[in-house]
Amino acid sequence: MKPVSVGICGLGTVGSGTFNILKRNAEKISGRIGREIVVTQVGARRDNPTCDLTGVDVTRDIFDVAKNPAVDVVVELIGGYDVAKELVLTAIEHGKHVVTANKALIAVHGNEIFAAAEKKGVTVAYEAAVAGGIPIIKAIREGLAANDIDHLSGIINGTGNFILTEMSQKGRDFEDVLKEAQELGYAEADPTFDVEGIDAAHKLTILASIAFGVPLQFEKAYTEGISKVTPQDVKFADELGYRIKHLGIAKLTEAGVELRVHPTLIHESQLIAKVDGVMNAVAVHGDGVGDTMYYGPGAGSEPTASAVIADLVDLARTFDADNNARPAHLGFRADSINNIGVLPVEDVETSYYLRLQVQDHTGVMAKLTQILSERDISIEAMIQKEAKGGNSNATVVLLTHEVKEQIMNEAIAAIEALEYVSGSVTRIRAEHSE
Ligand code: HSE
Repeated sequence: MKPVSVGICGLGTVGSGTFNILKRNAEKISGRIGREIVVTQVGARRDNPTCDLTGVDVTRDIFDVAKNPAVDVVVELIGGYDVAKELVLTAIEHGKHVVTANKALIAVHGNEIFAAAEKKGVTVAYEAAVAGGIPIIKAIREGLAANDIDHLSGIINGTGNFILTEMSQKGRDFEDVLKEAQELGYAEADPTFDVEGIDAAHKLTILASIAFGVPLQFEKAYTEGISKVTPQDVKFADELGYRIKHLGIAKLTEAGVELRVHPTLIHESQLIAKVDGVMNAVAVHGDGVGDTMYYGPGAGSEPTASAVIADLVDLARTFDADNNARPAHLGFRADSINNIGVLPVEDVETSYYLRLQVQDHTGVMAKLTQILSERDISIEAMIQKEAKGGNSNATVVLLTHEVKEQIMNEAIAAIEALEYVSGSVTRIRAEHSE
């Protein structure tokens, strides 16, 4: 059978990994498919010393690749929004399938890109966009296709998890760990995407769409980063038997879709609390299968390349088939996508960890608990630590049962207005069922 001809755009961390694995494992890969996958052209601003490009047509203009009649599949690994979108739309216009690792592109422009691809009868595959080497798109879209999926959650940013793990286990400094994550090729070009949860929100948006059959709605996702998580909170959480993880949570409820990324307390006994370092994990609940979990490296050159190549293998296997032989872009056919909106975070119900400073005065704790009980907020656990060195402040930490965010906002405002409470209340959401 004629080989499938691939053009790779971008020869950075993931591009070089893709090129090198395709070369190293060429025999194994073609043995699995029954035809070869050949890299015909590479478009990159500069060569990568880790790649032997002998015999490959190299161009400095990535649009040459998108228009090259000799290329069947364009692999977009340049990242970013605008140029990547133009590149992918150009490739589609020229009748080529596309494989991309670009979660920002899919989360923000996916609806438009998929519509263009469907019109042209080609496929845009994006396994590598979510959770690096974990085949989570395939697991949800194909492996769990029998199920009504109502809930998923995960650690879906390797850099953020690496930072939180190193801070918690080795007491390392935030900036120092971030620098190491950049050197290891985990972090985004703009690392605030990792640290502030934007990258995780991109991935969560994609997962929610394919799990629930709803449109991509990145702009409505609630996003909160890890930059304000302090070593003190990590320590208190630990004392309560919890870990703080940067979690993406998506739930399908009667009122709408919950789509939120934020630091989250998770009980240490739960599997996801044990996911450390650059590893990612995604838990998915389906009505038939029950609880499932998928674990693996969420970032890095070859783990992400492994997912890129899985898409190339799928395309090569079905290369001579009609586009309908491949899974729909969002798991559901376009006419079965339900236009369900995203629930505002104020309407989400969750538990809370609260930390505040109180002055040592009679009745202050009574007033605090009164504010909570008036709003039907029940306390699950509490720690009070007297300040050292004779000052009259104490730190109070509370863990509450579930309450609507709006009610908790009102309670926090009332607590902050109390005479003997100093400064603001630190709040971290907690989940009991992840
Ligand atoms: N910056 C991302 C992460 C890379 O750290 O998870 C993989 O998407």
